[in-house]
Amino acid sequence: MVLYLGAATGTTASHIADLVGPRGIVYAVEKSPRAFAQLLGTATLWPNIVPLLQDVRESGSYLGWVPPVDIIYMDIPQPDQVRIATEHVTRFLRTGGRLMMVLKLASLGRERSAQEHLHQCLAELQRTLRVGEPSPLDPYYRRHAFIVAELREP
Ligand SMILES: C[S@@+](CC[C@H](N)C(=O)[O-])C[C@H]1O[C@@H](n2cnc3c(N)ncnc32)[C@H](O)[C@@H]1O
Repeated sequence: MVLYLGAATGTTASHIADLVGPRGIVYAVEKSPRAFAQLLGTATLWPNIVPLLQDVRESGSYLGWVPPVDIIYMDIPQPDQVRIATEHVTRFLRTGGRLMMVLKLASLGRERSAQEHLHQCLAELQRTLRVGEPSPLDPYYRRHAFIVAELREP
């Protein structure tokens, strides 16, 4: 089971749907109605994608629809992306599950360097997760880092 936050039209979600196979489900959250319309089209071709037209800042609205998941994948350009990630980890990730996150450092403001933002994000995530070495996505995506983190045992 995968919870995908910021699914857009479903391009990457469809690859993940292939990886989890027909017995897995990808719950795909997207708030833009325009992107969501295309995500619905993607879901007709990948029936193991469940599209949810929702704002990730209101995760309570889909709490009853999404069971505990093995992976949360997040790709959201918001300044509070780490807070959103940790809230979802607490609410939706099963013990031993993983967070896979595209950290968008450019969305965190220009008053600090990307490196400083990265350090602060990692420190916040480490309160609830065991965080692996971040992978910079430069030069393909500037000021982006990919994070894989595991939920600590309670
Ligand atoms: C970079 S795109 C994601 C691309 C997608 N991961 C892919 O590879 O195909 C970011 C998406 O996050 C969505 N998004 C941004 N803020 C959101 C929010 N608060 N709730 C839900 N979706 C949001 C945007 O509408 C956009 O479609």
